[in-house]
Amino acid sequence: MLKLCNISKRYGNIEVLKKINLEIKPGEIHGLVGENGAGKSTLLNILFGMSDIGNSGGYKGDIFLEGKKVTIQNSNQAVKLGIGMVHQEFALIPYLTVRENILMGREKVFPLSKKFLGESLAYIDKEKNRKKTVNILQRLNIKLDSELKILDLSVNLKHFVEFAREISKESLKVLLLDEPTSALCREDTEKLLKVLHNNDLKDTAIILISHRLEEIVSICHKVSVLRNGEIVDSFNLSNFKSNQLKTSVIKHIARSMIGHTINKIQRNKRKKLQDKEDPVIMTFKDFSVHMPGEMISSINFNIYLGEIVGIAGLSGHGKLALGNGMFGIYPYSGHVIFDNQQLDITNTAEVLAKGIYLLPDDRRNSGLLLDRSIMENIIFTPVQIKNEFLAPFFYNNLSFIDRKKSSDYTKQCIKKFDIRCHNIKQKVNSLSGGNQQKVCLARAITMHPKILFVNEPTRGIDIAAKEIILHILLDINQNLGTTVIIASSELDELKRVCDRIVVMHEGKIFNIFSPETDDIEIILAFSGEMLTESEKV
Ligand SMILES: Nc1ncnc2c1ncn2[C@@H]1O[C@H](COP(=O)(O)OP(=O)(O)OP(=O)(O)O)[C@@H](O)[C@H]1O
Ligand SMILES: [Mg+2]
Repeated sequence: MLKLCNISKRYGNIEVLKKINLEIKPGEIHGLVGENGAGKSTLLNILFGMSDIGNSGGYKGDIFLEGKKVTIQNSNQAVKLGIGMVHQEFALIPYLTVRENILMGREKVFPLSKKFLGESLAYIDKEKNRKKTVNILQRLNIKLDSELKILDLSVNLKHFVEFAREISKESLKVLLLDEPTSALCREDTEKLLKVLHNNDLKDTAIILISHRLEEIVSICHKVSVLRNGEIVDSFNLSNFKSNQLKTSVIKHIARSMIGHTINKIQRNKRKKLQDKEDPVIMTFKDFSVHMPGEMISSINFNIYLGEIVGIAGLSGHGKLALGNGMFGIYPYSGHVIFDNQQLDITNTAEVLAKGIYLLPDDRRNSGLLLDRSIMENIIFTPVQIKNEFLAPFFYNNLSFIDRKKSSDYTKQCIKKFDIRCHNIKQKVNSLSGGNQQKVCLARAITMHPKILFVNEPTRGIDIAAKEIILHILLDINQNLGTTVIIASSELDELKRVCDRIVVMHEGKIFNIFSPETDDIEIILAFSGEMLTESEKV
């Protein structure tokens, strides 16, 4: 169905793809893996005719679709050729509804109006389109109001909407999926990926990028490993479906990706928190956050000084709302007490000045200054809030950015977080997705927060860099005394670094577990169920 011959791509002097050859048959799901910055998104962006590729000198090599050579200069051409793409960062229109986004360009219209006014002016039949959207969402098994605006959705729901839009297109020949599941917990991921085995997609060639290697091995027929812009390994996965073989092939792929084995971080066991004497740093009283699709209602909860708390739960049950709610991003009610004082969470500058910091999950929309350099991004908030990185001038009345200090510090961050970039001046929008996430984290840590809320810190991060990030979170907790609250879909990571794991269900705290608790017990809690005492034994 799809054949790539010698595809190469340069950004200025840097060659990010080098003579890629790949062939994908109809009905094949082909996994594409590699470190952050290896060139995975660039390859899919070429196939979908993204403007960034054309604007930076295009690509070299040939693309064949059903045996015919095609040139893809823009996304319209790609869509016409039957190519669909779910992007690593969303390509949805925020002010339109779920229905409008899913059916854009394919809406059902009133036939009479079409006859008199023509296709482009015909009246859209809202009701029929609503039903069609509901059908599509049901196929994906998602509970979502088709009339909600994209702007009001959480990141995980946006992923579902993008996915729904692409897989519902008729005669899809090639489907390109750039980390479609990175925002989802395992259960939602399974739900979503099951659709790939749908009858409607049986003749579609699918490329799936993911940093979750278990997912790749479970669902793909083949996998190719990209390293520094080259395909260094390819495996046929059909023979590795037993659990034992899966584990060995995952290790093999991981080694191919990064060239060495990975040591997983595991924190030392600490004393059990939640004793009456333990100092509380923050209290939520009857705290509700009306974050669409991730609401929490009337939570009462203490965070203890110096702990790492994990917040887990299925998408849509409120795990992301605590951090977002803290910064008054959504309407809220109730109280937050910090250091024995009521906090005015509508005053973001004050919240930041008190040492409370949020690293949001939607890094592109609320985390980064995209057209600024890595250095500016890292030092921006400390300069604004804490007057750091400034050189005094005229008895401190005027200050300028201390270039040397800022650039030395940024270089240190690049090394510490292993940010793969050309130099400190590179604009953040030209970094790969995972490397943008590392810049967000570096900025958060530069603030030396007393409390750090992080939503999905390892989303989109490759397997080796994940360990670096978990290590840094542990490091600031242990060495700087930062209290850390991590909302994450990665239960395994929470279990490795947290003191307690809070499971959210339907907007409430369902239960709080110690990290030693068996996975099954925690996963059952995700659906609001508990093991009986006899089952626990
Ligand atoms: N517009 C651009 N200008 C300069 N360099 C770019 C641009 N876009 C991407 N790059 C570089 O191309 C390389 C490959 O990036 P790409 O986004 O394809 O990586 P990736 O494999 O998808 O990584 P991730 O897992 O982090 O998403 C990176 O080094 C990135 O910095
Ligand atoms: Mg990418």
